[in-house]
Amino acid sequence: MERKSKPQFLMIRPDHYRISYVINPWMEGNVNRTALGKALNQWESLYKIVANFADVRLMDGHEGLPDMVFTANAGLVIENRVLLARFYHPERRAEEELFCEWFESNGFDVVKTPEGIFFEGAGDALLDCDGRWLWAGYGLRSSLESHPYIAKTFNIETLSLRLTDKRFYHLDTCFCPLPKGYLMYIPSAFDAPSNRLIEERTDPDKRIVLDEVEAPAFTANAVAIDNTIIMNCCFPSLREKLGDAGFNVLETCMSEFMKAGGSAKCLTIRLDEKAIKNRKALSTVTSRIIEVTGQLIDSGLMTEMLDIIVNGGG
Ligand code: ARG
Repeated sequence: MERKSKPQFLMIRPDHYRISYVINPWMEGNVNRTALGKALNQWESLYKIVANFADVRLMDGHEGLPDMVFTANAGLVIENRVLLARFYHPERRAEEELFCEWFESNGFDVVKTPEGIFFEGAGDALLDCDGRWLWAGYGLRSSLESHPYIAKTFNIETLSLRLTDKRFYHLDTCFCPLPKGYLMYIPSAFDAPSNRLIEERTDPDKRIVLDEVEAPAFTANAVAIDNTIIMNCCFPSLREKLGDAGFNVLETCMSEFMKAGGSAKCLTIRLDEKAIKNRKALSTVTSRIIEVTGQLIDSGLMTEMLDIIVNGGG
């Protein structure tokens, strides 16, 4: 009989964790306000829970790179290939090289995101529960231009979801695909076309909508391993819904990391994600950057250019 191998994760102990800059709304007012001892304990609890269900590999953090603990942003890993992150904020860019070295020395096929395109890894790209397609976020950190590149790198359909609420700057802060077709998400974090796309691709009975009270508790930022869902905190009504769907919720307090805008899911990255065999690189996004100089408005060139874009469906 074939033995199912254990899921694999990568985490970084928060020895160098602190808040020393502000790059999302959660960090505002929290600079130098983290308690390292408490953060270490919270991280340790999360680590122990995840390690009950999975193999957790550890990588060293780095002085001066406090957000490196959020390994979800290292890149996107599917079947031994990793598309490395290219961070939007300069404060996190030095992490790229360190993650690159780790993936290379651990035998991954490393692909780099092209210059000028931003992509914040598994924080902004989540595999559908059955590995049929990728849900990819854009608008606040990762750029839309990264989506066709992701599709090509992993030969997979990539569905673009536009994030519109600054509090939910990464897809994994407001969207969590679960096994058996379930999806936990915050509809107000997305624009209308993205909500339509989500509704088209998911069964109405399996959409678990999180409300405004649950949102700030980082409920969507959960680690799902088979029928177990690990999260910061779960309100009773949600626990009941998830229980009815056959899930067991484990809570572990992540308050010190929420000050930086992250919780359980951001502190981990899955290293053995699998997609379906028969798949195609699809993305509806095509983009081109052109530079035009001169008398654009007086000459009517600007209007003409916009007409061409709109008539072409842009
Ligand atoms: N302070 C970090 C940032 O703003 C938090 C990252 C959380 N990661 C995530 N995958 N949501 O980049």
